[in-house]
Amino acid sequence: MTDASPNDPTDTVDPTDRVVAERAGDEPPVPKVAEPRVEGTDVDTAAIMNALRGVIDPELGDNIVDLGMVKLLERSADRAMHITIALTTAGCPLRAQLMRDTKARVASLPGIDVVKIHFGEMTADERSNVMARARWKARDNALETDIPSSCRILAISSGKGGVGKSTVTANLAVLLADRGYSVGVLDADVGGFSMPQLLGINTEIEGEGAGEGKAVMKPVEKRVGEGALRVVSMGSIAGTNETEAIMWRGLMLNRAVQHFIEDVQWGELDYLLIDMPPGTSDIQMGLARMLPRTDVVIVTTPAKAAQQVAARAADMARKGYLRVAGVIENMGPSTNPDGTVTAVFGSGGGKRLAEDIGVPLLGSIPLDPAVAPTSDAGTAVATERPDSPAGRAYRELANIIVTDVAPPIEISECSLRGTLIRAGADLEGARTRAESRQREPNTTT
Ligand SMILES: Nc1ncnc2c1ncn2[C@@H]1O[C@H](COP(=O)(O)OP(=O)(O)OP(=O)(O)O)[C@@H](O)[C@H]1O
Ligand SMILES: [Mg+2]
Repeated sequence: MTDASPNDPTDTVDPTDRVVAERAGDEPPVPKVAEPRVEGTDVDTAAIMNALRGVIDPELGDNIVDLGMVKLLERSADRAMHITIALTTAGCPLRAQLMRDTKARVASLPGIDVVKIHFGEMTADERSNVMARARWKARDNALETDIPSSCRILAISSGKGGVGKSTVTANLAVLLADRGYSVGVLDADVGGFSMPQLLGINTEIEGEGAGEGKAVMKPVEKRVGEGALRVVSMGSIAGTNETEAIMWRGLMLNRAVQHFIEDVQWGELDYLLIDMPPGTSDIQMGLARMLPRTDVVIVTTPAKAAQQVAARAADMARKGYLRVAGVIENMGPSTNPDGTVTAVFGSGGGKRLAEDIGVPLLGSIPLDPAVAPTSDAGTAVATERPDSPAGRAYRELANIIVTDVAPPIEISECSLRGTLIRAGADLEGARTRAESRQREPNTTT
């Protein structure tokens, strides 16, 4: 557990030399990885390498930089950034996923518009080095976090409070679980937690070892459809007696999010959704340091003020080298039964923000009176009122997450379970698209 200042940008840098030095002693030496060749690039190489540290090879359980898979960075005359990655075998089944993740990370850096990925194959020596590093890292990682390397991590963020981050997190979590995924939910809003209420959870986190130096927590588990939610929140931390509760709270107050990341036994997870607190806080920088493979999704309302603050949140994420995966507009225009459209907070704000920060608009959730009562009842509008305007929009959003933004790792590997779930998502996608076509609004705002 490192304890460096979250504001120090060098925290995200973890040069191989330092790692090797720290492991001196009785341990067998960890093979050193060769630095990539750099040619003709005017972009800060450290920034590119930091962005690439967010690309995980889920099979090897580590990022492609520390595994020494990045071989060449080259800026060509047409300004494209070419990145050569050496795979353990040329036919690696994770090729498509590595390509997508690498492009997404590097293209989000300022000054880089086009990213081209080339794949090579490791030599036998390189392969055995990489396996040794992966084994070492796997052992080391086990101490740091129990979040599986194949888990997709999405932080739901915004600059401004009250735009619907928690509602979006809860609805997406329930929809993903309903489709058969194991979904972790980390309530990073330590002071203003809302996940237990929104997800209808009233049991408490089980913990062991509070006061003994090393505490381990088990998330609260709730079955949803074919899948499960695993939730940690300050709101679920209490003891069966007040002394225990005080002990837990004391332990948690300072670095609650870090504890949630390091000391929770998450078990198998396909997704981890992080409900971020309002504001561009230290927690976001801390996340960049602790979980650099996090993708950030920015929630905004269509209002101008919300967009401006949301743009700052995106900027902050990028400074920590987190990939911004897209924008979700919430409280957007809603279509009335007579086909007219009501836009209480205006319209088009999500799209404008997405264009401004150069990421896709993932969806627009309309302002819908069905949301508050379902949230108050601890259920999700997306599954309780699937035919409400918000319910339909949430289902479309979940489809985009599963098929485009952060496809579960199994899907890229064509496992039977992944294939079945994806078949469900495709059907669902076709259904919601057909429904929205039928409901095409007569736009008068
Ligand atoms: N699409 C929607 N239609 C109607 N009401 C909504 C919608 N989305 C969220 N709300 C309501 O808006 C309020 C704020 O939502 P929420 O708590 O999710 O925002 P937040 O961004 O997490 O807030 P905070 O910054 O305080 O954590 C809640 O009362 C919620 O029920
Ligand atoms: Mg919230």
